Amino acid sequence: MIATLPKENCWGLPEDQYQYQGFWLIPPFLQGALSAQQQFQAQPTDIILCSSPRTGAAWLKSLTFATITRTSYNDSTTPLLSKMPHDVVPFMEFDHAQFSTNRHLEIPLLGTHLPYSFLPRSIIDSGCKLIYICRDPKDTFVSLYHFIARHCKSQNTQPIQLDEAFELFYEGVCPYGPYWDHVLGYWKASLERPDKLMFLKYEDLVEDTVLYLKKTVEFMGYPFSSDEQQQWVPENIVKMCSFDNLSGLEVNKTGRHREGKGNLVTKNNIYFRKGKVGDWKNYLTTEMAQRLDQRTLQKLSGSGLSL
Ligand code: A3P
Repeated sequence: MIATLPKENCWGLPEDQYQYQGFWLIPPFLQGALSAQQQFQAQPTDIILCSSPRTGAAWLKSLTFATITRTSYNDSTTPLLSKMPHDVVPFMEFDHAQFSTNRHLEIPLLGTHLPYSFLPRSIIDSGCKLIYICRDPKDTFVSLYHFIARHCKSQNTQPIQLDEAFELFYEGVCPYGPYWDHVLGYWKASLERPDKLMFLKYEDLVEDTVLYLKKTVEFMGYPFSSDEQQQWVPENIVKMCSFDNLSGLEVNKTGRHREGKGNLVTKNNIYFRKGKVGDWKNYLTTEMAQRLDQRTLQKLSGSGLSL
């Protein structure tokens, strides 16, 4: 079936991307998505961390993982010291085959890049909670471009030029894109089901990480007690999950993600680049930035959302 879908090169990656029900995915994740739709059984206690690529998923995973496991581990025993954030939270469209046998029910976190309309029905029916993180499209594009370019180099393929990637992103042709449609799917669902879907922005998390961590964990149902707040537990989690701390750990400097999985193996360090708001200024011309902003305004018009 996948072979019959519209196909485009994926910015120089060895795998092409295919357009299915309005979104572009590479085959391993599309196959995983279809299979998760058929088989994945969500539990009401699950918490699904959703995002388009490069909008802060690893950070959200580390913060939520550290929070949920705060009574089992401390700063010197947390698995985040020896595993990269994407390896402590399973990824739905890739790891789901293991879920029925291999789930750690005390850590009910799952990650996904699937658009809202692709989510397995059981996620909606179970009433489990979802947290979506999004980001300024300009920074998302720049982050995505660098990620793919670095991944291409490690796979010995030639990345496309930034200008060319920009045009594709603008047209929506990028992994899990169009970016705006991805964001809007979750935004609309968050308006309809605010008790079940929390909508976060990377920029807000950067601006006041402790505040947004507290909001997030309250939503998740794991609020910090007043004793914990007095003992600076939220602040310590934020420090441990900071870009500087995580990117400096040996596992995140030299480790590899999805070892043994062919084209999908990645070096952990490519997941940590700068962790800044506004880095697009170093890569996009004023004209490019204005065009993308215009596109964002047009795409989000009437939604009540601004990015
Ligand atoms: P940049 O490429 O702009 O640096 P994702 O995890 O969804 O793939 O998002 C990746 C982006 O989040 C990258 O942005 C990455 O550097 C940044 N990031 C990773 N860990 C982070 C952290 N602990 N704090 C803040 N940003 C982080």
